[in-house]
Amino acid sequence: MTAPLLDIHLTDDDLTTALRTDARTGLSADPKSLPPKWFYDARGSELFERITELPEYYPTRTERALLARVVGEIAAAAHAQVLVELGSGSAAKTRLLLDALTAEGSLKTYVPQDVSASALRGAADEIAAEYPNLSVHGVVSDFTDTLHNLPRGGRRMIAFLGGTLGNLVPAERAAFLAGINEVLEPGELLLLGTGLVIDPAILVPAYDDAAGVTAEFNRNVLHVLNNRLDADFDPEKFDHVAVWDAENEWIEMRLRATEAMTVTVAGLNLTVDFAAGEEMRTEISAKFRPESLAVELGEAGFTPTHTWIDPDDRFALTLAERR
Ligand code: SAH
Ligand code: TRP
Repeated sequence: MTAPLLDIHLTDDDLTTALRTDARTGLSADPKSLPPKWFYDARGSELFERITELPEYYPTRTERALLARVVGEIAAAAHAQVLVELGSGSAAKTRLLLDALTAEGSLKTYVPQDVSASALRGAADEIAAEYPNLSVHGVVSDFTDTLHNLPRGGRRMIAFLGGTLGNLVPAERAAFLAGINEVLEPGELLLLGTGLVIDPAILVPAYDDAAGVTAEFNRNVLHVLNNRLDADFDPEKFDHVAVWDAENEWIEMRLRATEAMTVTVAGLNLTVDFAAGEEMRTEISAKFRPESLAVELGEAGFTPTHTWIDPDDRFALTLAERR
């Protein structure tokens, strides 16, 4: 086996610098908020893997079953030589794509990309070992600002699975899709996995499980602030909140202070007051409707060519071509 290449466009120091800016802005704002990429240190990535196995968290298993069903069609349509996967995480479902694209005969290179160096290294090593004929080239970067760093050459398909598109707010989402469009050549492809708008009675428990794993994942952002910026958050003094915002059609995750407290962020020379019951937004997970998603893709310069939906109408895979 050849050891996988790993490009680090985001060092540990870069992460701390970026977190300083995000934390200062978000903790000083009213209402307070933090961007979701800060969940994913090594512990956060592990907690996310546990979420994907929860009985309530239907997205992963729904997307996996859908991929398994249609991956042959995807491979036949794509003829991809390079599979780039943004926010690849553990790349558990990606094996289905790699198998189909290798069987189809075109695939030469797999480029997993993630902000979590630990998750990326694990996935890249495993896949390089499992697919000895594939060249694996991992990239540690932030997909919202460093897409131009992705390796080039060969007909590419960019996969963005897991419904992660929904974790961007609408303006970020438009900029992100336009950014992907810009790095692709005409005719190259985007494969997008998105959660659909469904009954909140099924949706909400997926983000608020009975075993409390999602709550621990949500609170992990406070551990990250403690570790990286020398803050003194007591994570146990924050409750996990997940609400369905019917107007925006997104799940909103928040951390609610159980009592009034003052938190010191020594690394920022900042003290932050929380009122009892005050809520801080940590993530949205937008759900989509196939028609409006097609419009958004069109506005970003893509022509959707295929849409596949699971039998329960919970999750969609969309293949779109850069115009
Ligand atoms: N694709 C996997 C993981 C989804 S979870 C799946 O479908 O199960 C979201 C992933 O995106 C995590 O691995 C997280 O580390 C990564 N991520 C989140 N924000 C990111 C950002 N700004 N840049 C790069 N990766 C990011
Ligand atoms: N991309 C995943 C999603 O939106 C991320 C996620 C799943 C998540 N469960 C979570 C983020 C709980 C925060 C909290 O479905």
